[in-house]
Amino acid sequence: PTEERINLLMKQMTLEEKVGQMNQYNGFWEVTGPAPKGGNAELKYKHLRDGWVGSMLTVRGTKEVRAVQKIAVEETRLGIPLIIGFDVIHGYKTLSPIPLAEAASWDMEAIKKSAQIAADEASAVGINWTFGPNVDISNDARWGRVMEGAGEDPYLGSKIATARITGFQGDSRADLAKVNTIAACAKHFAAYGFVESGRDYNSVDISNSKLYNTVLPPFKAAVDAGVRTFMNSFNILNGIPATGNSFLQRDILKGKWKFDGFVVSDWASVREMIAHGFAKDGAEATQKAVNAGSDMDMESHLFVEELVNLVKTGKVKETLVDDAVRRILRVKFELGLFDDPYKYCDEKREKATIGNKANNEGVLDMAKKSIVLLKNEKGLLPLKKSGQKIALIGALANDKNSPLGSWRIASDDNTAVSVLEGMQQYKDNQLTYEKGSDLTVGKTTFLDELVFNTTDTSGFEAAKKVAANADVVIMVLGEHGFQSGEARSRTNLDLPGNQQELLEAIYKVNPNIVLVLNNGRPLSIPWAATHIPTIVEAWHLGTQTGNAVAQVLYGDYNPSGKLPMSFPRNVGQCPIYYNNYNTGRPTNVDKNVFWSHYTDVEKTPQFPFGFGLSYTTFEYKNLKINKTAFAKGEPVQVSVAITNSGNYDGKEVAQLYIHDESASLARPVKELKGFELIDLKKGETKTITFTLTDKELGFFDNDGNYLVEAGTFKIMVGGSSDKGLESSFELQ
Ligand code: IFM
Repeated sequence: PTEERINLLMKQMTLEEKVGQMNQYNGFWEVTGPAPKGGNAELKYKHLRDGWVGSMLTVRGTKEVRAVQKIAVEETRLGIPLIIGFDVIHGYKTLSPIPLAEAASWDMEAIKKSAQIAADEASAVGINWTFGPNVDISNDARWGRVMEGAGEDPYLGSKIATARITGFQGDSRADLAKVNTIAACAKHFAAYGFVESGRDYNSVDISNSKLYNTVLPPFKAAVDAGVRTFMNSFNILNGIPATGNSFLQRDILKGKWKFDGFVVSDWASVREMIAHGFAKDGAEATQKAVNAGSDMDMESHLFVEELVNLVKTGKVKETLVDDAVRRILRVKFELGLFDDPYKYCDEKREKATIGNKANNEGVLDMAKKSIVLLKNEKGLLPLKKSGQKIALIGALANDKNSPLGSWRIASDDNTAVSVLEGMQQYKDNQLTYEKGSDLTVGKTTFLDELVFNTTDTSGFEAAKKVAANADVVIMVLGEHGFQSGEARSRTNLDLPGNQQELLEAIYKVNPNIVLVLNNGRPLSIPWAATHIPTIVEAWHLGTQTGNAVAQVLYGDYNPSGKLPMSFPRNVGQCPIYYNNYNTGRPTNVDKNVFWSHYTDVEKTPQFPFGFGLSYTTFEYKNLKINKTAFAKGEPVQVSVAITNSGNYDGKEVAQLYIHDESASLARPVKELKGFELIDLKKGETKTITFTLTDKELGFFDNDGNYLVEAGTFKIMVGGSSDKGLESSFELQ
């Protein structure tokens, strides 16, 4: 019936009305206020009333959404409702950890729940479409947008894509019509995570092997999970901007993968094809974008200006316009917008949902699960609950804004629970706070370039004094929440400002330091990794940051996170990732310098992918494969026994890696192909079984064909990508 309803509607639509559906405008005026006069806003308003707008983004709040929707539904000829998009990246108002942090949980149920909370809040304020999840794989911590993704691994990234999409949209297409689900958007299609030297918006130049084996799998997983929209990306691929890339959008996405939702451009990416040097003007940019399969124009204002004429002059076939419109209408029908365009505009629901207790509890749970314990050598953690003098140091410890992280458009400033506030809940220790130094100087907003304090050390003495007098010093250091995200590329991954200097100064008076890191990307902390006994990776954890950190530090939650990205020893190692190729000279066989290494630093990362400790310890034993040789298609069963051998109940992420020893194309040294999060009581042992099938054992050749080849496969099972129990089997 949806397709019939689309057909009926399309028959009534003029070419202009069809093009209108393909146009998306950013929210432009206080809709419930007076009508805008002059400039862009007046033009957009006119277009909206003329039925030339199919979607709006960043309009929010039931009142505002109702007002724009009313114009579309009641003032245009056909009354087609708008689809309302928004960057709900890690929550709407009640914020979850940044997506990279959530990925560190390796907990698919929790990640799905977090997306459900985000959908619940967003849909309660009129939004019915999120520009997420970001499924860009990246190996380069210099790129600020790694905070929005799931890290460096396509297997983990694919699982997380599925969890997030089903969290936003529900488990089936029918669930999309529910009032508390929203359409998801897999972005940015494709290869945006591989911008050269990590500089945002830069060119991409990658191999076919990287494209097929690393970049595309999470997007394919998104299609399989039923994602209803895609967003293309700002970058070029083989000289063709993604927005004008027919190979990506038509051949792969809509052809091979049979995706029947729609593709939105990224912000002004249609127009940016002119700057890329791929189109001489707006008309050519529009022609190339539509012909290549971009269905909706976000804020280039070009489809409305150019497309009607391009169709009339035969440069774009009307059938392609029809196809795009059909896709857009399909998602609108599935959301139930034609049945009730105001279904997401319920003031009562808005009031009851935003920031409610259940949502806060949900994001707290996610925040605890996202924390990764990187080092705990002197057993400083968990903290004793009483009788200790604790010094808390660092501007970030008393910051209620930074922990909200980047991409938090709708959240109110300064609404995170700070680490100081979280620590103050534990009243039986003596807690003293000193800032030490300011992190930034001047304005600290989403839109401004941040300036860091490198000179003012006037607070050091006071901080040293409280540290000298403490049993344990907790230092909260790292990046400001706005230091990662879009357009936040760095060429230096050290602690910004004078935080390193502060850390070393405090260390001199009291080395019993617990370093709590706040960051939106892997940092390079070689000095801290050597000297500081305890390091906790706490990312930017969202609204409940302080409570989550305090509960972990005090042992009320035993950390179980594992890194979704490798942490470099220094920025010169970037890009660094665990699933690299072996090279012809991987080890120092000849005992001279001519092997693949650096002369000044080890080639391994500081902290590898998959790594993370617990307050307890886990032992892996009895690795077994059910046979030694398998026919193609036969499932390979790998079992291992894991014992909680320490003093606390805890959770462990058991990881299975494979290595195809010799193939028609070189294969990575290791590839994650299975993982399981298991709960183990103190002293308990559990045996788990992974199953490997063709789906896990094959790879894509340089033309995108999936191959499963006979040969020897090594496997490794453990709690990190750098070590584990090993075995092997033959595939015949
Ligand atoms: O969704 C985003 C995208 O990731 C980057 N450019 C702007 C879009 C809409 O805000």
